[in-house]
Amino acid sequence: MKSDKIPPVRDVFSSKIGVLAAAAGSAVGLGNIWKFPYITGVYGGAAFLFVYLGFIALIGLPIMLSEFMIGRKSRSNVFGAFKNLAPKSGWKYVGLLGVAAATMILSFYGVVAGWSIDYIVKSVTNSFASKSPEELASMFTQFKESPLLPVFYQLLFMLMTMAIVIIGVKDGIEKYAKILMPILLLIIIVLDIRAVTLEGAKEGLYFLFHPDFSKLSSDGVLSALGHAFFSLSLGMGTLITYGSYIGDQNNLAKTALQVTVADTFIAILAGVAIFPAVFAFGIEPSSGPGLVFITLPNVFQQMPGGVFFSVLFFILLTVAALTSSISILEVVVAYFREELNIKRNLATILATVLISIVGIFCSLSMGLFKEQTLFGLNLFDLVDWISANMLLPLGGLFISLFIGWFWGRKRIEEELAKGSKLSRGLITAFIFVVKFVAPGAIAIVFLNGLGLI
Ligand code: PHE
Repeated sequence: MKSDKIPPVRDVFSSKIGVLAAAAGSAVGLGNIWKFPYITGVYGGAAFLFVYLGFIALIGLPIMLSEFMIGRKSRSNVFGAFKNLAPKSGWKYVGLLGVAAATMILSFYGVVAGWSIDYIVKSVTNSFASKSPEELASMFTQFKESPLLPVFYQLLFMLMTMAIVIIGVKDGIEKYAKILMPILLLIIIVLDIRAVTLEGAKEGLYFLFHPDFSKLSSDGVLSALGHAFFSLSLGMGTLITYGSYIGDQNNLAKTALQVTVADTFIAILAGVAIFPAVFAFGIEPSSGPGLVFITLPNVFQQMPGGVFFSVLFFILLTVAALTSSISILEVVVAYFREELNIKRNLATILATVLISIVGIFCSLSMGLFKEQTLFGLNLFDLVDWISANMLLPLGGLFISLFIGWFWGRKRIEEELAKGSKLSRGLITAFIFVVKFVAPGAIAIVFLNGLGLI
């Protein structure tokens, strides 16, 4: 598997549970625990959540299945996948879009993961003890605006990601994801219990689950769509790349459903841990990217064994981020290796260096360069917005068009017959969605969000 021959002997996941663990490991990450609560807060709560859930079911799930199919059929990186399946056509540029999105996403993702590492240290040194909500908020602001420490942790995280990718798909990814993700889930449930029993918790649950659709803007709807892609790791070829490592005996439809349900469930559980606490401690729900880091220390402070739980939580959040970041880096590395003929280790190092440099600027845009903005956004927010709200939906649009219009029913049936037994009715529904519903909805939301219609 570490062969540097081109074309390399490709990796195959060793077991069904390995496939599931790796794909779920990619999907579950900072998107669920950091980004979902923060943007739900920014866009007004329940209405955003419901639109997001609609996009997950209607667009996310079918596109996830599409990506798995493209990957498994082509056994190739994103760019090569389209090149193999649609030779001499422009489809391969969809792959290039994916490589660009991966580069951008990992650059700011590494920054947030770095924050999580810093919060492990803060937890170990008991830095949250007897601080007021205001003090905890300014502690975060001071940290993220400082020029050195966040960059240091971001680079540390990128080094960890690089090391795991160099070790390789099977040994690196499967082993960690299988054991650690269930523990993270348990801790979130413990946090949920503490959060909903706080005084004033009800208001938070109301905010999260009682929709007021009049509060929803077209920007909010586009962000819900973008986040559906971001959270499920869709639209840039992560799951095409992972699909290329999946054996023919695997049931792709079942895996897609399991990953989608698990990912969504964890995001909602994270929301249930955050919003009751946001209201109980008088924090602004629309506080932005710091929301989780400002809110949770208050909760840890108010629970028995708080230090223990907070250390464990931030360690596992970092691990969840790692199982996602390796999947993002793998997109770029697989492209470098298979298309540009760069050896695996060198490809990994090059991609890491490139992404880390962009990441340093994302981190500095929180403090040193915070006055430098474009469309009112600093570099961090801009890279996040462009990649999640533009590149991923566009990638998803092309992927669904590719499967729906270019591939056609016969090849879809053939691919789905391997390992799964979907009824004809379900296959017809799937084709209808990828042909019309998903591309139509993405196009409308996208153009509307940009103010073009
Ligand atoms: N889905 C990951 C998360 O929620 C992030 C990610 C985005 C991973 C895009 C791969 C591709 O944290």
